[in-house]
Amino acid sequence: MNRNIVCIGAGYIGGPTMAVIAKMNPDRKVIVVDINADRIAAWNSADFNLPVYEPGLEEVVREVRGRNLFFSTDIAGAVKECDIVFVGVNTPTKMFGRGMGRASDLQFWEATARTIKEYADGDKIVVEKSTLPVRTAAAMEAILNDHAKYRFTVLSNPEFLAEGSAIKDLLEPDRVLIGGPDDEAGRAAVAALAEIYAGTNGAWVRREKILTTNVWSAELSKLAANAMLAQRVSSINALAGLCEATGANIGEVARVIGADSRIGAKFLKAGPGFGGSCFKKDVLNLVYLCESFGLHTAAEYWMGVIRVNEHQHERIVNRLFTSMFNTLAGKKIAMFGFAFKANTGDTRETPAGAVARLLAGEHVRLAITDPKAIENGKRDLAGLDGIEWVEDPYAAAAGADAVLVLTDWSEYAALDWKRIYESMRKPALVFDTRNCLDDAALRSLGFRVLAVGR
Ligand code: NAD
Ligand code: UGA
Repeated sequence: MNRNIVCIGAGYIGGPTMAVIAKMNPDRKVIVVDINADRIAAWNSADFNLPVYEPGLEEVVREVRGRNLFFSTDIAGAVKECDIVFVGVNTPTKMFGRGMGRASDLQFWEATARTIKEYADGDKIVVEKSTLPVRTAAAMEAILNDHAKYRFTVLSNPEFLAEGSAIKDLLEPDRVLIGGPDDEAGRAAVAALAEIYAGTNGAWVRREKILTTNVWSAELSKLAANAMLAQRVSSINALAGLCEATGANIGEVARVIGADSRIGAKFLKAGPGFGGSCFKKDVLNLVYLCESFGLHTAAEYWMGVIRVNEHQHERIVNRLFTSMFNTLAGKKIAMFGFAFKANTGDTRETPAGAVARLLAGEHVRLAITDPKAIENGKRDLAGLDGIEWVEDPYAAAAGADAVLVLTDWSEYAALDWKRIYESMRKPALVFDTRNCLDDAALRSLGFRVLAVGR
């Protein structure tokens, strides 16, 4: 077995993860392949115009690209050359047939397994990096090893990085999880993968942070971790509504409950609801799994996490509506931020998209600005009337009746809000759904201010 690594799928997961694996394992060759030639071309672009924006990513790619990291569309060649095959293809929610709207669409994953089998010319360790439902590895192993010339060992190695902090999360992970079969080949494969995460000369992840489990525990742990995180966001947002109704302050409530070491202070920020490509998809997957095993009460519980999230979008629009004198038609609203969180250009499942669609239904004129997400946003909202995309937040706010902050970009707090106030139609409203601005300062300038949970 050789030490070369190929990753199939050059997306948000494949690109950054392999860049850091290459950085921390300079003695291994790492190849990232994809069927999307444009994506590969962007990863290879001379001016480092990479397809994914992440703080610190460009520096890592500059260091390792062409040294021991390569991007290619030659999937067959890379599979032949590498004995360790990561699979990081997309696993979206299935939009047809059985499990529609809930289950994972596994067609990309299965196609990849068949490709690996077709081109392999020796034994391979196949590593699931994509988030998959429980027992997918077993299904893939069955396909791979059925009448096969070579031996395929499938491991589950879910990724826990968050976008916007991907490079930091990869360099200093809380834990690395490896699920593998408890037989001789399985144990050897787990050891081979653990060696990659240890890094050359043990310079990367400490052994005690590398957790090993059986394959199904690993697959379920990934879904469970995302579901627990999403649940915290929905819990704090559900409490935010109650704070608004009662005069309590969600920031104070979060501080108090977060001071309990059993609860912990992280992930208790009320906002416009969670976005991103994974929380909704993975919770729906859990709902589907529970339903498949007849665990209907558990399925309903997790479905509630999604319902509270969607309700949060409606609550934002309802509050705007009542605060803007029960009519929004023809009014201009400047939307500050379209990415699903700060420090990323990713707009998949962004709450801003859901809110924009609801506002378009009220015939609002929307001017949307974002430092990194305008290109993706334009694609998401193509065909929706009354939308203007504006690079400069001051231009977006000029003549507007309200500014609606939907992403917590740090630059928004540093804007000249006096200048913004003077350029707006009066009365001028700021609705800060991320609680990231100084509302007392805004009020003293003359703004009417709304925030979440206060
Ligand atoms: P993505 O859509 O950005 O990238 C997936 C890539 O796979 C695409 O470039 C696509 O062209 C490629 N692909 C699809 N089928 C292929 C095939 N047969 N052969 C070669 N390439 C193929 O998706 P992503 O955000 O990187 O997510 C990938 C997986 O990782 C998902 O299961 C997701 O749940 C999981 N994940 C994502 C994150 C994240 O932060 N985005 C974090 C943890 C886990
Ligand atoms: C999340 C998990 O944090 C990662 O561990 C996981 O690997 C990843 O999903 C995945 O599987 O894709 P990500 O979605 O990139 O990462 O970003 P998060 O920081 O988790 O934020 C998700 C959403 O929740 C964002 O819209 C964010 O604004 C929102 N959020 C988060 C809140 O509204 N409040 C909080 O307190 C925290």
